[in-house]
Amino acid sequence: MAAASPRVPVVAGNWKMFKTGAETREFFATFLPLVARTSHCGIVVAPPFTALAAAVESARGSAVAIAAQNLHWEPQGAFTGEISAPMLVESGCSGVIIGHSERRQFFGETDETVARKLRAALASGLEPIVCVGETLTEREAGQTEQVLDRQFQGAFSALTPADFSPILVAYEPVWAIGTGRTATPELADEAHRFLRSLAARRFGDDAASRLRILYGGSVKPENIRGLMAKDSIDGALVGGASLDPRSFAAIVNYKEG
Ligand code: 13P
Repeated sequence: MAAASPRVPVVAGNWKMFKTGAETREFFATFLPLVARTSHCGIVVAPPFTALAAAVESARGSAVAIAAQNLHWEPQGAFTGEISAPMLVESGCSGVIIGHSERRQFFGETDETVARKLRAALASGLEPIVCVGETLTEREAGQTEQVLDRQFQGAFSALTPADFSPILVAYEPVWAIGTGRTATPELADEAHRFLRSLAARRFGDDAASRLRILYGGSVKPENIRGLMAKDSIDGALVGGASLDPRSFAAIVNYKEG
């Protein structure tokens, strides 16, 4: 019998490029009462930069933490259009998503920029959610573990166990994002176990047993319970279904259904 997981799950919503400030306030007005008594998991919402202030203000006094979706690795400088870690901290964010597959795919993010952004986030005390995951072509070519290993080493190999401890990893198979095609709990479990074994090898068993690994890719109220039934799955990073306050609350409250 496996020991009970020492890890508190986290359910995070990645809003991507959706919602204005006004829509954000509307979301929280409906969402917060639905999760007011939730205590079994941490809740994170990651709105676009322009809605951060509205989100921080709306979530004040609640258990919901606000995260950004990206950052630049320098604290300031001539980098038109970029936002730094100290700016995010000042805006009231406590976390940041790094290396989302859409950023890797469309905005030239590499394992190297992920590592630089990660160091900047850690230096500012932001809780990073680092995304990894294979494409369909990579999975079909039997390269899933190789890709996860490369992304893991690329992001984390220069870190100490102390640096590593606040980090959350999100396993997001690219073929499951926005496609309605969720990884089965078994398939996600396999990838999560592999990622935890990489963490154990690099940072030791203790760090690995404390690492939270979230699953992302077409998570819905209908499939969250099956995913969360796996010991290796410590929460979810939710895209589309986090935009609706009722569906996101149903996911957060997966224990009640
Ligand atoms: P969907 O839940 O819309 O598939 O998006 C997942 C995701 O990319 C979360 O970061």
